[in-house]
Amino acid sequence: MSERSRNLPRRSCLSVPGSSERFLQKGPTIEADMTFLDLEDSVAPLEKEAARAKVVEAIRSLDWGERVMCVRVNAWDTVWTYGDVIEVVGNAGERLDEIMMPKVQSGAEVIAMDLLLTQIEKNVGLPVGHIGIEAQIETARGLINVEEICAASSRMETIVFGPADFAASMEMPVLTGGVQISDYPGDHFHYVFNKILMAGRANGLQVIDGPYLKIKELDNLRDYCMRTRTLGYDGKWALHPDQVKVINEIYSPTQEQFDKAWAILDAYQVATETDRKGAVMFGDEMIDEASRKMALKFVTRGQRAGLKRS
Ligand code: GLV
Ligand code: MG
Repeated sequence: MSERSRNLPRRSCLSVPGSSERFLQKGPTIEADMTFLDLEDSVAPLEKEAARAKVVEAIRSLDWGERVMCVRVNAWDTVWTYGDVIEVVGNAGERLDEIMMPKVQSGAEVIAMDLLLTQIEKNVGLPVGHIGIEAQIETARGLINVEEICAASSRMETIVFGPADFAASMEMPVLTGGVQISDYPGDHFHYVFNKILMAGRANGLQVIDGPYLKIKELDNLRDYCMRTRTLGYDGKWALHPDQVKVINEIYSPTQEQFDKAWAILDAYQVATETDRKGAVMFGDEMIDEASRKMALKFVTRGQRAGLKRS
C-alpha cells in the first residue's frame, strides 16, 4: 500500500480523461482530494495507447500538490491492462500513489495486479508496495465477490462503486447511470451501497461512491451525495469542477459536529481515566465506549478535511 495516500481524504475524486492534453493541464487547478487520470472508459479505443505517455508526462511535469494521485487502467478482460500498468508505473515515478482497477470481478484479479506491480517496482527502484490499489465494483460478479476483492491485497486502499457500468451489468431499464429511479419505491442501490460499505470497512478501506452524470443538476447531486454520506461513505467521484465543491462540503463533518465529537472524547476520557466510570452523562445523553468510537470517526474525518477545533 502507499503509506502516503492511504489515509489522505478522498471526499472528491476527480476523473480526468487521459487522452486530453487540455483536461490534463487543467487537472491540478481543480481542488479535488484525489484525481485519477483515466485510461479506461473516457478514452476512445484508438487513443488508448497514446494516452499512456500523456498521463505519465502530466504526472511528472505538473504540480498536483498533496492530493492522492491515481491512474485508472483498463480491465483485465481487455488487451490493454499490462501495457497500461508497465508503461505508467514504470515511468511515472514516486508521485503516482495508486492504480485504479475498473470492473473488478474477483480477488484473483487484484492479486494479479499486486504481483505485476511488485515486479515493476523492483525493476524501476520504487519501494515495494508503494503503489496502492483502488478497485471498482461495477458488475454483478464483482458485487458477489466484493468481500474477497477487499481482502485480496495489502495494497488495497479503497473500494469504489461504479453505478453506470453496474446498471448495465444488471440490465436495469435506465439510460442514465447513477441517478435516482423515481418509479422504484425506495433506493434501488440501497443493498449495493451497504454491501460494498460493509466489505470495505471490514478490511479497513475507504469507501467511495461513483459518478453523478447529470453535471448541471447540482441540487440533485447534493441530495444524491447525502444518501451515501449518511450511510458512512468517505467520498464521491466528480466529473466537473462545480461538482467538486458540493462533494467536498457534503462529505466533510460540519464545524458543529467536529467540535461536539471533540467534546465527547474529552468528557469520556475524564469519565474513564479520572472518575473510573464507563458510562456517563454528556448533556442530556449517555455516552460510553461506542460513543467514543463514533466521535473518533468524526474527528479523523474532520482532521482529514482540514477542520480545527474552535
Ligand atoms: C464508473 O466507472 C461507472 O461505471 O459508473
Ligand atoms: Mg465504469
